[in-house]
Amino acid sequence: MGEFEPTIIAFVCNWCTYTAADLAGTARLGYPTNVRLIRVMCTGMVDPKYVIKAFLEGADAVLVSGCNPGDCHYINGNYKARRRIKLLKEILPQFGFENERLRLTWIGASDGIVFADIMKEMVTQIKGLGPSEAKTAMVI
Ligand code: FES
Repeated sequence: MGEFEPTIIAFVCNWCTYTAADLAGTARLGYPTNVRLIRVMCTGMVDPKYVIKAFLEGADAVLVSGCNPGDCHYINGNYKARRRIKLLKEILPQFGFENERLRLTWIGASDGIVFADIMKEMVTQIKGLGPSEAKTAMVI
């Protein structure tokens, strides 16, 4: 059996983090291929159900990433996301998931290097945690 390769679902804001991911790609910065990007117009539209569904369908970690505070194109969407993620982190253990598997970051459009670094850091962290509860249950 090979080394555990985590699956990371990343809900990224179109205006900032998605652009940073694109920049990382065009600048040929290397980052792990474990991440699956889901582009949303704003982190404020990431319904908590999307996060729970991603975990229940086998994600080992979920990242929600958008514009820096004060830069949201919809004024306060990222603040709404921050409140939702805080609450989700409190209830995740009740579903059997460590709350470290959910992360919220702000990555600006010009931060391709930051994006690549966070992806590397997350993969290392989740490899340390091992497969998620749901993924383990699916294998059995
Ligand atoms: S538009 Fe980027 S977080 Fe709202």
